[in-house]
Amino acid sequence: MKAKGVERVRLDYSGCLKERVGSAGLGRGDIRLGCRAAAFAMRRLRQGLDAGQYGFDAILDDRRMIAASVREGQRLARLADVLIVNGIGGSALGPLALQSAMRPQKRRLIALDNVDPEGFAAKLAGLDPKRTAVDVITKSGSTAETMANLLILLKWMERALGPRHVHHWTATTDPKKGDLLVLARRLGIPALAIPENVGGRFSVLTPVGLLPAAFLGLDVAALVDGARLMRRHCWSAPPEKNVGVLGVVLLYLLATRRQRSIQVLMPYADGLLQFADWYRQLWAESLGKRVDRRGRKVETGQTPVTSLGATDQHSQVQLYMEGPQDKVVTFLEVERFRKEVAIPKAHADLASLGYLGGRSLGELLAAEKRGTEIALTAAGRPNFTYRLPTINEHVLGQLIYLFEFQTAIAGELYGINAFDQPGVEAGKVAAFALMGRKGYEAKAAELRQAAHQPRAVV
Ligand code: PA5
Repeated sequence: MKAKGVERVRLDYSGCLKERVGSAGLGRGDIRLGCRAAAFAMRRLRQGLDAGQYGFDAILDDRRMIAASVREGQRLARLADVLIVNGIGGSALGPLALQSAMRPQKRRLIALDNVDPEGFAAKLAGLDPKRTAVDVITKSGSTAETMANLLILLKWMERALGPRHVHHWTATTDPKKGDLLVLARRLGIPALAIPENVGGRFSVLTPVGLLPAAFLGLDVAALVDGARLMRRHCWSAPPEKNVGVLGVVLLYLLATRRQRSIQVLMPYADGLLQFADWYRQLWAESLGKRVDRRGRKVETGQTPVTSLGATDQHSQVQLYMEGPQDKVVTFLEVERFRKEVAIPKAHADLASLGYLGGRSLGELLAAEKRGTEIALTAAGRPNFTYRLPTINEHVLGQLIYLFEFQTAIAGELYGINAFDQPGVEAGKVAAFALMGRKGYEAKAAELRQAAHQPRAVV
């Protein structure tokens, strides 16, 4: 059922069809076959969801978790203007994407998502600890970057606020394990649970994203409702009308049959560039896998690249238009911006100014996007567009579910586990070992040995 006044994200895939882009494109028969494969993939995913193996779908019905996230976000908002999100990867990209898209005015997030000492110092400079809260987000409760930043922040807050500094903290972590949970209990800091069956990059609609969203004053109910609407659509619309199914089938077929090993996600909206960064992690970490579910070496994945329209028309599009035939461009187009800016009429006698006067920036941006799309299509470069009615919480919720669903289905199509990240874990273990964490001595010895190999440095 469609709620009154609610508009759904649409997909225009004309630019992927053979009749439009020639041999780089897909025939309607190919797409039909792809949809059939997707139906099998959906059945397998359904089994995993129903068995509770993957939780990104069921979280939308966890009203207690949603309410607790909102309550805690609002509590912190009463005592702070800035919320430090101390987390990395899937523990930071979601909240940042929401902030950047929604442009809240009253409060802001600062993400400590790196351990670059200069970057860290710059982010803290000028912050008043008395008007700052901290949300430490780590599913594992042990990631080295987050834990190092946590120790520094504890000292920084305690020095300024004394023992009452603990009221300014929240921990968001696994409900049962990890040192962050132990520490939160030790210090008396509230701990919100990331469900065990939800990994970092699929966690934006858990306390990971919902608490910061509530802190910023965003409409969390609309965000979750948008995701629910897209869930209904993805699981019930016929394949030929299904934005979720068609979108992933196109990407899968273009990657596997048309050598499109790179996907460029190109929003035409400044506010959505960080959303594209969130997507980049989701698509990259989920699908970049060495082995399939049977343990056979497959080395799958499609490299996601982010690009901003119209800005990157002047830096990247030359490559997309004429460079290697290895890309598919996914546009995000906003149909109605929340603000419009009129271009004044002046100096109309000058050819490069006269035609612009009386138009608007939104019109110009739309023309830029349309022009790029037409030119790419004419150059035989596959592309498609998600049309967003506007940018608001409901639309963002739709997009989040849409892309999570597609990523999970793509995992099934590739026959790999989209929900693990052995490559990321390897990096975490190496950092523990090299920094002398107890229990990692053997790994440290192995890495030290590798460091003695001759190097090629000039
Ligand atoms: O998606 C993932 O699982 C990862 O990108 C993690 O989010 C990232 O490595 C941070 O891990 P954690 O939340 O355990 O600190």
